[in-house]
Amino acid sequence: MSTHAFQSMAAAVGRDPAVPLSKNTHLLKWVEKMARLTLPAATHWVDGTKAEFDALCAQMVEGGSLIKLNQELWPGCYYARSDPSDVARVEDRTFICSYSKEAAGPTNNWEDPYKMRRKLKELFGGAMRGRTMYVLPFSMGPVGSPIAKIGVQLTDSPYVVASMRIMARIGLPVIAEIDKGEKRVVPCMHTVGSPLGPGQRDVPWPCNEEKYIVHFPETREIWSYGSGYGGNALLGKKCFALRIASNIARDEGWLAEHMLILGVENPQGEKTYVTAAFPSACGKTNFAMLIPPAGFEGWKVWTVGDDIAWLKPDAENCLRAINPEAGFFGVAPGTSWKTNPNAMATLSRNTIFTNVALTPEGGVWWEGMTDEPPEECLDWQGRRWTPRIAAETGAKAAHPNSRFTAPAAQCPTIDPAWEDPEGVPISAIIFGGRRASTMPLVYQAFNWSAGVYLGATIGSEMTAAAAGVVGKVRRDPMAMLPFCGYHMGDYFRHWIRMQRALSETPRIFQVNWFRKNADGEFLWPGFRENMRVLKWIIDRAHGRAVGKESPIGWVPRYEDIEWRGLDFPRAQFQKLQAIDRQAWRLEVLNHEELFIELHDRLPPETVYERELLICRL
Ligand code: GTP
Ligand code: SPV
Ligand code: MN
Repeated sequence: MSTHAFQSMAAAVGRDPAVPLSKNTHLLKWVEKMARLTLPAATHWVDGTKAEFDALCAQMVEGGSLIKLNQELWPGCYYARSDPSDVARVEDRTFICSYSKEAAGPTNNWEDPYKMRRKLKELFGGAMRGRTMYVLPFSMGPVGSPIAKIGVQLTDSPYVVASMRIMARIGLPVIAEIDKGEKRVVPCMHTVGSPLGPGQRDVPWPCNEEKYIVHFPETREIWSYGSGYGGNALLGKKCFALRIASNIARDEGWLAEHMLILGVENPQGEKTYVTAAFPSACGKTNFAMLIPPAGFEGWKVWTVGDDIAWLKPDAENCLRAINPEAGFFGVAPGTSWKTNPNAMATLSRNTIFTNVALTPEGGVWWEGMTDEPPEECLDWQGRRWTPRIAAETGAKAAHPNSRFTAPAAQCPTIDPAWEDPEGVPISAIIFGGRRASTMPLVYQAFNWSAGVYLGATIGSEMTAAAAGVVGKVRRDPMAMLPFCGYHMGDYFRHWIRMQRALSETPRIFQVNWFRKNADGEFLWPGFRENMRVLKWIIDRAHGRAVGKESPIGWVPRYEDIEWRGLDFPRAQFQKLQAIDRQAWRLEVLNHEELFIELHDRLPPETVYERELLICRL
């Protein structure tokens, strides 16, 4: 950092940022050791204040890595473009380095932890040269809550620091927790892997072609190299709150899941909370912020979280959920005042946009945001974009995985209990995926073990949220394939066992908003109309709606769904709910693909459930 930049930062935060804010000797020693390894030009202890955030953003604007949006249209908002090669999670570069390969299981990449440590030392050696190393303390869950967990991320990316201030609780209050010395701190190392030589000019989005997203589950450590994007770099999110936390949860008897949490309030004021696991870019944010459609006057949906849930049995053995995050890192394309007005309101201020398009008046745009595209704009790579260019070349203005990073507290439907340290009681768990065929709109599992089987065998067409072939159906158990930090067979067993810790198990459902007709059109209008399905789910959970037995589970009849306000033909519903036995036999064969891989650790219940399903078909 230049002397000038250093002085203006010191003035902005009213202290020397290099002076440690903590008295915890373990932390101080680790920070020193990591600085000796990575050799940054300066160290900055993050206090998490608004003044610091503003100064960091101002510095990034000056350096060309952030653009300040038109503040009249987009108050407090900034815009970033990533390197075109650094736009999503990199699953093939993500590693679970447990002591034994078996503990990581066949669905994770594994490397010998000793070898990996050697490799990481090499990669991180001098990796922060010419940059500032930020010491970023963060809490997943409300600070001081008994279920919250603490980490410290060392990073050379100011973009990450600014984003983490939205996504997690950071800074001084977390340091106060650390200094009490009672809680274990998860060390999280991160570098973009792009050291600067003396006098070398920086690029807007430094990163490295080589990427390593590494987890050491036994020692609860994270090392991330080479990427500045989302789940690769905001280490509190997927790396900590899912991959490391799933290991902690297995050891301690709870669940760390890729789930939204929402509460439904009916006109009588009764409130019911559910969680839902859908794979990346399959509708969690939309569902979490649902606004009930016409015909549902007096109903209200409250948002607790849109991506991650930690679920724990309380003293009465009731399953309760908290959202460990403080913000939404949501998919931009498709988000509009029509499809998700709550998200639009949430992202209208204090938001960082990444890889969307930039309009001439200093605003943002993405495909699906408005009916009419802007006459022209700059696309996510900074190139001129017009509707005509798009028609001719197919160029997208916004990257399909472009995202907004917005504070959860700004969501108009944020639940009053969203920061309750005890969490909210969960009555139903929903699994879903993107399936053009086979999967009905909704069905309920017969019981807990059938529900675990249902979750374990979820399939979904791949999306742009991860590098890979978009559209291919892959098994994504509990939407956790990229996020379960240990053997998937053991994870199923852990789910099965959870029943014993619960006085009443939440009911388990599958939904599919994405079934298509022969012409490739969606059979279901989706979005706010999903409320109709949600109502049946809630009524089933309370034991007051009819479910008809089918080979795969309980299904609603046409007359069991609330249709007021929507003209939806019975025949169309029957198409949506059709259970094609031939297609289902193939489906069950596909389950086998995953099970063969996991066979030596599968709990017997999953095998029996599969046999029963085959018999019923
Ligand atoms: P991650 O943040 O990646 O974990 O994803 P997410 O599950 O939160 O995804 P999100 O809610 O942002 O959904 C992404 C895509 O799903 C968008 O393109 C939406 O338009 C589409 N989508 C969401 N709900 C529906 C629906 O009910 N029907 C249809 N057809 N599309 C939907
Ligand atoms: C996902 O891919 O499931 C996300 C986005 O929620 S990221 O944080 O990049 O993983
Ligand atoms: Mn996600």
